[in-house]
Amino acid sequence: MTTTPAGIASIGLQLPPLFMPVTELAELRSVDPNKYTKGLGCIDIALCPSGDDAATLAVGAAKRALSRWNGSIEDIGLVAVGTESAKDMSRPLSAWVAEELGLSGTVRSYEVKHACYGGTLALRQALEWKWSGAGAGKVALVIASDVALYSPEDPGEPTQGAGAVAMIIGEPTVAHVAPVSFPFSSPAFDFWRPVGDAFPSVDGQLSLDCYKRAVTECFGALIGDRDARSVLAEYQSMCFHVPFPKMVKKAVLHLGEHLGWSAQEAERLYLEKVEDTLEWNRLVGNAYTASLWISVARALVGLEEGTPITAFSYGSGYGAELLHLTAGPAAAAAPWVSDVDEDLRSRKPLDMWGYETLRGHARAS
Ligand code: CAA
Repeated sequence: MTTTPAGIASIGLQLPPLFMPVTELAELRSVDPNKYTKGLGCIDIALCPSGDDAATLAVGAAKRALSRWNGSIEDIGLVAVGTESAKDMSRPLSAWVAEELGLSGTVRSYEVKHACYGGTLALRQALEWKWSGAGAGKVALVIASDVALYSPEDPGEPTQGAGAVAMIIGEPTVAHVAPVSFPFSSPAFDFWRPVGDAFPSVDGQLSLDCYKRAVTECFGALIGDRDARSVLAEYQSMCFHVPFPKMVKKAVLHLGEHLGWSAQEAERLYLEKVEDTLEWNRLVGNAYTASLWISVARALVGLEEGTPITAFSYGSGYGAELLHLTAGPAAAAAPWVSDVDEDLRSRKPLDMWGYETLRGHARAS
């Protein structure tokens, strides 16, 4: 297939200004902290102050991606926001972003929803718009932004988080994305949020099973009839959607078992290619659509041009897609690291009382 070269030209991240260690939540909920740290692999939950939301995070990430990109706002012909934290059933989150950026005119502006997969779908649509020539020389601004909150005392509470990743889709200076990808979907009620409900409903065990099945299907399609060991050895890193870090390890071990590998060999694959990509996710928690792209942003840091990585996107409901990326010349310097450093350095810790106040469940003293 002959296509116009396109990929990720710039990345910006925005993390919220508050966080709480999961050990603090464990104390609040009278749970052994090892369940959250060792059982789920979490460290911190990133939290937004009241008044901030997915639009605030999306705008922050977009401004950072634009600030280190050579083009101008007039070069943007498409703005798409993947989110499951919509502010409105009709008005797209992209309208809040466009308003803040002063983006209007011959611009396609919309929101994409498919649980945590929405950001990847927005990215794929923007790439396909570029590759097809429909972009007519313009670039796209794609943002994955979410605030993940569960109802207090829900088993998902320690996996909460928030964050946004913005990507300019144009010249593949940060990363080239291969036109061929490996999707898989199968309708299920594993995790859903009915219209009007503030928090999601989850069938925890089913959600784990759906995620693991999607991993084996997508990687099975990538591997095809080739030797799995040599296919996976080609990749420097393997990035995943991160609902909680232990989920990713479970999925890699499951993939190994599916491929007929020993547990030790699958564990080695996880340690060599996956563990490091989770560094930022452990400090942020689940940021739904942004989680995979936080992991990809981490994995690209310092890579030599041409180094390949995989990115596995999963969205409940459920749909998944495995992408193949190669680092561009800007990955070596990775200027987006300063976004994460700055946000992690300046964010303020909440203790259990601060958390309860934030969630509107302050105890009478
Ligand atoms: N010390 C060490 N480990 C402990 C422990 C302790 N004291 N107590 C428990 N554990 C371990 C358990 O053994 C378990 O580990 P294994 O699964 O390896 O056995 C782990 O801690 C978790 O314990 P439970 O299974 O008992 O936890 P739970 O049932 O209370 O909650 C959950 C787990 C269902 C995943 C819950 O966090 C949840 O509902 N999360 C939201 C749904 C989710 O993230 N699903 C993932 C796939 S769906 C998706 O990817 C979309 C998305 O973003 C949401």
